Formats: sequence, C-alpha cells, structure tokens
Amino acid sequence: MTAPHDGTRCVRAGLPEPAPGQPFLPGPVFAAPYHLDPWAGPAAAPNGYGRPDNPTRRLLEAAVGELEGGDCRVFASGQAAITGLLLTVLRPGDTVVLPSDGYFAVRAFARDTLEGIGVRVLLTPTAGPHPDFDGVRLVLLETPANPGLDVADVSALAARAHAAGALVAVDNTTATPLGQRPLDLGADLVVASGTKALTGHSDLLLGYVATRSTELLDAVTAWRNVTGAVPGAFDAWLAHRSLATLDLRLGRQTANAEALAGLLVGRPDVTGLRWPGLPGDPAHPVASVQMRRIPGVLSFDLGDAARVARFLDAARLVAAATSFGGLHTTADRRAQWGDDTPPGFVRLSCGVEDAVDLVADVAAALDASR
Ligand SMILES: Cc1ncc(COP(=O)(O)O)c(C=O)c1O
Repeated sequence: MTAPHDGTRCVRAGLPEPAPGQPFLPGPVFAAPYHLDPWAGPAAAPNGYGRPDNPTRRLLEAAVGELEGGDCRVFASGQAAITGLLLTVLRPGDTVVLPSDGYFAVRAFARDTLEGIGVRVLLTPTAGPHPDFDGVRLVLLETPANPGLDVADVSALAARAHAAGALVAVDNTTATPLGQRPLDLGADLVVASGTKALTGHSDLLLGYVATRSTELLDAVTAWRNVTGAVPGAFDAWLAHRSLATLDLRLGRQTANAEALAGLLVGRPDVTGLRWPGLPGDPAHPVASVQMRRIPGVLSFDLGDAARVARFLDAARLVAAATSFGGLHTTADRRAQWGDDTPPGFVRLSCGVEDAVDLVADVAAALDASR
C-alpha cells in the first residue's frame, strides 16, 4: 500500500489494533489511582496514578505524534504546553528568541516570568529580520503567526539556529500537523494549542509538545507530570474523536477562506487583508513552499471598533468570539484582548458552513456596517 493520505491518517491515528467486540476508539478511562499489584507495586502495570498515567491520554498522544512525525505529550492547554516547554529548556542566563507578533500571552509570560528568573528575551518579527542566533538557547517560531498571519521560513531559520547551537521550536497551532510538519523542516520541537483547528469543535482546551529527541521528550514529560498540567480523560477522548475529521474540516475551512478572500480583496471598505493563500500576500512565497495547506484564518481592517461591532451585529453566520479553527465561523477584534493591533483589526476564522452562504452573509454584513 502506498503511504496513506491525510484523511486516512486522521481517521486511523492512534487507534488500537482492531479486536472483536472492542470499540474503534476506546471510551475515556476515568481514574485517579489504579489498582496496584500488592507485591510488585507500580512496576507491574502501565497505570499507577492518574497524573502521569492515563490510557486515554496515551492514545491521543499516539495520534498527534503520528501526525506530527514525532513523540508527543499532551497538556491541559496550549499555554500549559508552551510555558512548560520554555521552563523545561531555559535556565537563568539563557537567551530565548520569541515572535514579536505571535500569541500575546507568550510575550506576557516572557515579560512577567522569564525575565524575572534571569532569562534574556529577544522579540523578533515572524517575517524577519531575525537577529544573530549566537548565544541563543531557544528560538520559538510561530508560523503562521497569530493574528497577523506572517510566515517564517522554518528550514532556513532552523539551519541558522542549529549552526549557532540553538534549539528550534515551532508553534504549529494555526497550521496544524496537516498544514505543515515542522519536525520534517528541521525543528527540534513542535508546540501547539490543540484547542483550535486540531480538535475544532470549540468545546475543549488542549496543548501538546512533539519531538524526535528522547532527551527533550523525557524532560518535557517530567515537567508535565510533576507540574500536573494534564488534560482530563474526557477532554483527551473528545479531542481524539474530533481529530478523525481534521482533514475534512480543514478542507472546508480553507475553501471558505479562499472564497472570502476573493470577496474581501475586491472591497474598497476593507483594508490590510492577509491570507497566506492569496498569491499577492507577502507570506505566500514561503507558505506555498513550506506549507501543505493554508489554514482558514484571515485578517483585515475595518477601520475602527464601532464598524467591527456593526459588522458582527449584522452578520448571521459570523459569531463574535475569540479563538479560531472551530466549526463555526467566528471573528474577533484583537485589540480588545491586548494584542498590539489597530482598533479595527479583525481576525476571522472560517468554519465549515457552505462558502456560498458565508460569502453572501459577510458581504451583506459589510454593506450594513458601512
Ligand atoms: C498560536 C497560539 N499558540 C498558543 C495558544 C494558547 O493556547 P490555549 O488557549 O489552548 O492555551 C494560542 C491561543 O490562542 C495561540 O493562538
């Protein structure tokens, strides 16, 4: 059989071998302690206590690991994964390079916590120019960056970082492992929020770290198990169940983004449209080589906060909500969360509605909000 394609990989990812009488995806195992062997203790079985050990979580880790092409550890949220990774790798006196235009909570953590323990933080735009990596311990890239959707050239930057002795981690939240495979592009680590398109139903929080390095995996696992930043069994099961449709959901979201980009690019009342799939987008040259598919997230500017509110009020298929990558189309005025974006800047996340309905609804809402 030739290598399976994305839909097949998603449907089968992390599932146990078929066994008569058993379900395709075993249900969630809810347990804090497990029965122990009275003589051999925890060494006799894979499950001793629920913080380090949960079979539902391990199946999800197998699934995400298969898709990323590495070993995976899941966390209670994307932030738990990112902060866990940063605190696992960095020590006082180290230097870390972070995106200046990435998820704002990572910068807040760097400012409030990393700098406080003596880590030097260099902020750099995703599209570059990137600083000299000499003396840097870790370069964290976020590509495409949320919310501005610039793209970093992972292979080129990983080569530069490795030559300088630095580790490279890529936040793969927006792309998902079907959109790009950072470990294949030379990154040492993938870190992501699974809250977004990966699970895509707007009903859970999840994060993960993936790597091919046993040493890094062991360090991240030890951190996760001792800090206790684990997802519960039900969320892990829901996430695994949702993963099976990732290919279908992304396909529709990307098609919807393409249709909306086609509408928005021609409207004089919308400025600053960004979607890496548009041939004229500044991120398109790198994205079209590096990425396997373009996510369904766009950004643009409606001028001021009041017009964004009128637009969201008028739209019937675009929910005012933060986050992205879900089944329902949502839009978010990022300045209201503290992102360093203009007051009318909107990040719009396409859901899986029909493109024809979405385009008509957005066009009508833009007209009504003028
Ligand atoms: C790119 C990116 N990374 C990480 C996170 C944090 O993920 P979570 O909200 O699951 O903690 C987010 C959340 O929006 C994000 O957009």
